[in-house]
Amino acid sequence: MRYAAIVDGLANEGARAWEIHARALSYRAQGRDVLVLSIGDPDFDTPRRIADATIERLRSGDTHYGWIDGGPDLKAAIAAYRRRHIGQDVGPENIAVTLGAQGGLFGAALCVAQRGDEVIVPQPVYVTYESVVRATGARLVDVPLRAERDFHLDAADIEAAVSPATRAVMINTPHNPTGAAYRRADLLALAEVCRARDLWLICDEVYSRTLFDGRAHVSPATFPGMAERTIVVDSLSKSHAMTGWRVGWTVGPAAFTRHMYHLGLALHYGLPSFIQSAVAAAFTEDFPEVEAMRARYEARRGRVCDALAGNACTRVVRPEGACFVMLDVRPSGLSSEAFSDRLLEEAGVSLLAGEGFGSAGAGFVRLSLTAPDAELDEALRRIDRFTRGLQG
Ligand SMILES: Cc1ncc(COP(=O)(O)O)c(C=O)c1O
Repeated sequence: MRYAAIVDGLANEGARAWEIHARALSYRAQGRDVLVLSIGDPDFDTPRRIADATIERLRSGDTHYGWIDGGPDLKAAIAAYRRRHIGQDVGPENIAVTLGAQGGLFGAALCVAQRGDEVIVPQPVYVTYESVVRATGARLVDVPLRAERDFHLDAADIEAAVSPATRAVMINTPHNPTGAAYRRADLLALAEVCRARDLWLICDEVYSRTLFDGRAHVSPATFPGMAERTIVVDSLSKSHAMTGWRVGWTVGPAAFTRHMYHLGLALHYGLPSFIQSAVAAAFTEDFPEVEAMRARYEARRGRVCDALAGNACTRVVRPEGACFVMLDVRPSGLSSEAFSDRLLEEAGVSLLAGEGFGSAGAGFVRLSLTAPDAELDEALRRIDRFTRGLQG
């Protein structure tokens, strides 16, 4: 039987990047001593009050079809949250609730890009972006984020990649995998390109609550003339340790939000109703757990930087946010794939090879900060021992 062309777009290098992670999990299931730092799933629990409220809604029979793209109360709560944390003045008509940020990314791409279009994506890039863009039929155009700039965005590189077919630019700040929190000046320059060339900007802000060294999040949606051409994608997955709940949302123009409603109708018919009712509190209240988790990631970043500071085989790219650290492993003489493969097989530590994030990730491996401190410290000891063995 024949399958549609979309299936080829969905399976690609990014999807294959998870192979090492799957291998590490299978080793662990076999009882082997493996430390898994290859995924960004917070090791914290969802704030207790959100879990309790959800159980109560479930028990009270709130188990029927929910709102397709979020009920009015939830949308109003998210709009108020966006105003409070980011300073963007939006209303419920600008908010669509999605199945995680992933659902928002997919919907945003599908609503603005199609066959014949090009979407510019700086890379290294989060592994699902390629599938998302290619599923629309559009062509993904890579623009490298340069290691010499510590992977910060350069709007001139993006401008140089714009063609008559370009429809959108898709960015992520703070950035997975590099931890770069894009600077206001760079984002302003990018906004200028988007306005001048009439482009959509899809901005993935899932790590906007996880910034280090006192930084404040900068969202290009708040810049003059940008709200009408920016689609922000966000979720509770990382900020509230709720990856399994699949609560995400988009912030965009009202017309885009209506399209997201129709997409939700066709695709998933809404988030479970008991979750929709219970999570509004995550937007109306400031949970101390959120700041506590952010502070833990920052402290763990410090542990990684300190532990590997004198390591001759790796250079740490100090992240400014998110929950990952990129290690430049070029001094080891190994490719990032060989490094991560041998580190898993010989030292029992699972990291993702940078190539999984695009060719600009070659020479780097990504270490996740979402493991308990003791596990992280043990992984750092093993990395140190492994690299000293390489030198020997
Ligand atoms: C940059 C980025 N965007 C989107 C996602 C997906 O997030 P969610 O769990 O909300 O779908 C992730 C998850 O790791 C991510 O790192």
